[in-house]
Amino acid sequence: MATNEELIGRTDINDLEAILSITNNDVEEVAHAVKDNADAIFTWDYERTRPALGKLYEKAKKSQWNAQTDLPWETPVDQEEVAINNALQAGGFGQGIDLSGTALEKWGDKEWLDFAVESQNWTLSQFMHGEQGALLCTAKIVETVPWIDAKYYASTQVMDEARHVEVFAKYLDEKLSGHYPINAHLRLLLDDIVQDSRWDMTYLGMQIMVEGLALAAFGFLHQLTTEPLLKQLLRYVMSDEARHVAFGVLSLQEYYSGLTQAELRERQEFAFEAAVRMRDRFLQQEVWERLGIPVKEAVHLTLQAPERALFQQMLFSKIVPNCKKLGLLDTADGYLRQRFTELGVIAFEDWADTGAEYEAYDEVAKDREAAAAS
Ligand SMILES: [Fe+2]
Ligand SMILES: [Fe+2]
Repeated sequence: MATNEELIGRTDINDLEAILSITNNDVEEVAHAVKDNADAIFTWDYERTRPALGKLYEKAKKSQWNAQTDLPWETPVDQEEVAINNALQAGGFGQGIDLSGTALEKWGDKEWLDFAVESQNWTLSQFMHGEQGALLCTAKIVETVPWIDAKYYASTQVMDEARHVEVFAKYLDEKLSGHYPINAHLRLLLDDIVQDSRWDMTYLGMQIMVEGLALAAFGFLHQLTTEPLLKQLLRYVMSDEARHVAFGVLSLQEYYSGLTQAELRERQEFAFEAAVRMRDRFLQQEVWERLGIPVKEAVHLTLQAPERALFQQMLFSKIVPNCKKLGLLDTADGYLRQRFTELGVIAFEDWADTGAEYEAYDEVAKDREAAAAS
């Protein structure tokens, strides 16, 4: 049984000092090599025995879209205006935080605007890096999963993820004002997922945890933003992501039914570790660094903002019900239920899971039907 120390490198999950001590020291690196420790598996069983995965595969074939031609790239984007609108929706810059006696006390609209612009650059950069993680993980699944139906489906997800990297990179280059290197917590998480030799762990780390979080985070930003190109981009990316999470739920439901309690406990620990890393990655420490503000103080302050706590919890609104559907909350003495309770996110357990939700998310199909009807 692993301890917190072994899983996440610290005893207290909220130890801010320890969280901020993990930084990306290789910001100049262009390529990053990770051993993937897995056999590529051929299957000679071509029988189509998993109809739910087959249905998902057919859906994926029909709902492909072209990043270059299906989005309104001609839309002009005024990044500062977007940043102001976003901030106004949250009640204004720096609202709900007591700044007296801090480095931010004298900040006026100009400084908050700079922060908001950098924050957008940072957020979209991390989405782009995360999408590349999904691209590599799904290519690995094509090789390592032993089921033909899953190999077929995963191949469509590889194409989806290439498109997602493409759209976020293009948006950053053409509409925003700078890139950020990958956040150290996100990189640790992606490295862990790619390195694990067990094929189902790629699914748990990527399809359930990272993509479950992405679906919630994209949904949050989609609601918040007033920028029509980004709104449309996120709508289409989310319609793909909902299939990806469903792929994880459908595959792992079958596989976990044959695992022992001890094996399931390892999956719970992996899910907990991933959850903590994903929460830690949202502190935006690199933005404060770039602005020359003492990072620890600034992170401490932003954590006090009321909408911040809500946002952090919402990130888990897909992950928790999906873990429940997979039986991971209560197996092995309820280990994961306890951990999610400590993280303050257990309240989502009875929200809709994503096993079948992908039909409702298919905005690409809806647009095509509407276009055909008009
Ligand atoms: Fe994606
Ligand atoms: Fe995805």
